[in-house]
Amino acid sequence: MGARSAGDVVVAGLKRLEYRGYDSAGVAVPVEDRIEWRKKAGKIVHLEDEIAVRPLPETGTAIGHTRWATHGAPTDANSHPHVAGRIAVVHNGIIENFASLRAEFDVEFASETDSEVAAHLLNREVAGGATLVEAMRAVAPRLEGAFTLVAIDALEPGRIVAARRNSPLVLGQGEGEYFLASDVAAFIEFTRDAVELGQDQIVELTTDGFTVTDFDGQPAEYTQFHVDWDLSAAEKQGFDWFMRKEIFEQPRAVADTLLGRQNHHGELVLDELHIRPEELRRVNKIVIIACGTAYYAGFVAKYAIEHWVRIPCEVELASEFRYRDPIVDAQTLVVAISQSGETADTLMAIRHAREQGSKVIAICNTNGATIPRESDAVLYTHAGPEIGVASTKGFTTQLVACYLLGLYLAQVRGMKYGDEIAAIIAELEGMPSFIQRMLDRAEDVYALADELKERPSMLFLGRHAGYPAALEGALKLKELAYIHAEGFAAGELKHGPIALISQDLPVFVVVPPAGRDQLRDKVIANIAEVRARGAHTIVLAEERDEQARANADTFWPLPHVSTLLQPLVAIIPLQLFACEMATRMGHDVDQPRNLAKSVTVE
Ligand code: AGP
Repeated sequence: MGARSAGDVVVAGLKRLEYRGYDSAGVAVPVEDRIEWRKKAGKIVHLEDEIAVRPLPETGTAIGHTRWATHGAPTDANSHPHVAGRIAVVHNGIIENFASLRAEFDVEFASETDSEVAAHLLNREVAGGATLVEAMRAVAPRLEGAFTLVAIDALEPGRIVAARRNSPLVLGQGEGEYFLASDVAAFIEFTRDAVELGQDQIVELTTDGFTVTDFDGQPAEYTQFHVDWDLSAAEKQGFDWFMRKEIFEQPRAVADTLLGRQNHHGELVLDELHIRPEELRRVNKIVIIACGTAYYAGFVAKYAIEHWVRIPCEVELASEFRYRDPIVDAQTLVVAISQSGETADTLMAIRHAREQGSKVIAICNTNGATIPRESDAVLYTHAGPEIGVASTKGFTTQLVACYLLGLYLAQVRGMKYGDEIAAIIAELEGMPSFIQRMLDRAEDVYALADELKERPSMLFLGRHAGYPAALEGALKLKELAYIHAEGFAAGELKHGPIALISQDLPVFVVVPPAGRDQLRDKVIANIAEVRARGAHTIVLAEERDEQARANADTFWPLPHVSTLLQPLVAIIPLQLFACEMATRMGHDVDQPRNLAKSVTVE
């Protein structure tokens, strides 16, 4: 909303959000007493082509949407905005009771979506004499599930009204112009002064300013913040993919996540951690909740936290957690790991945990996101915007945050002396240069990608903290190369998976450092077992480990680091490999098929 052509601003913003979902896109503007809209299935370039052929009128108000399909295939008709009478609306989330609401209308709906019913509900209100904001206050409370709704009324052309529940919405404050978006990336080229909107809030926007209320129309609190990264950080800076750029940003991202975590006595201070030490001393169990890559980061954290803090640490898939009737209470500390901070599975899981009385700490990379806002405390990673759908620097900075949390817990519970903690912190501070060393060997990894790009299946093995690293390496390959890739605990091979070994099957093995000899010796034996059956072994082991090297068809040397921290360096070649494989296969690395960057539906 503002002086320049709002339609152009919205399309530019949608292109910055395309990584969040890209099945279809559309824009709507209020023109005299009607709504004009353009919307197309497929990537935003199709919408731009449509607008080039049928330009939108120049207006000061516009709304737009780029979609990740939930209800209804990615077609023109199912694209947003949805229009009913003089109302246009765009929606993120799922309206779970859409079927019963649709039954209130005897009109033909234009789409198969849940979202369209919101347009009809709002239109019915304004047709009955309500203003747009009154209409939103009447409609929003009736919707169940998760939604961000943004609506315009042709008869109120200078106004936008939005509501959010369980789905992200941020406001940008410009000079005489205002923006609403799911993510600040949509408007930071225009302003970096933002407002995070809270649960069950409605915001009314005009060129004169904005008003925030709750669903009852009462004034509501909101938080202003300044976005600390600029547009260039959200651009590719010469890389072919955001993902590749983000892989190479990891030394900086890890260093930034470590910054400012100690006071001048060398003690760990996690200042966003607003849970008192005495409460942390009463904790008798930790439950880590996450999805996908974040889950594998939590899986690594389990090994570190149990070793340093000596209390049980469970790791749970968020989508399973609340359905298995988990045993959590006031003495359980829940740690929710989420790069986007908007993953619906994780959000619903922490809500369940808090209802049981548990304190929740979020580990998140997105300032002002829903999950940290609904947690008792937050540990922000400082990876900068992660645009590539496949998480890379999100993962390594989550590992660092988990290590910091584990060391902090060990500190407040007296499980480790200051000098022991300082030694591990010192090793962590050396990690950026170790990660850089792995990146410097990228060409060796790329060469293997060319050799293996036709293989239909690959296995990944690891033990101890190397096991979740293997799982994450497999996930990267699955989501980017679209081939079967599976991670196993190396010790599990003989219990079944070894039957999968066939001639030339690529098997990646993460070998623990020599310091853990029994663990390492067993993995070396596992490599020999698969190699004897024809596997092509790609061995990731310490550069000085000659026995590992002798058992490798391809050897990727790792620097000497301690076992618990080894995933920080072992994952780098696996990220590079997946990125390069997908590139050589001609896939869209940043927007892999069927995926979205932030899964805001359960
Ligand atoms: C990671 O490469 C995937 N894109 C996906 O598994 C992701 O890690 C998962 O959806 C969790 O996302 P979050 O960290 O934003 O919660």
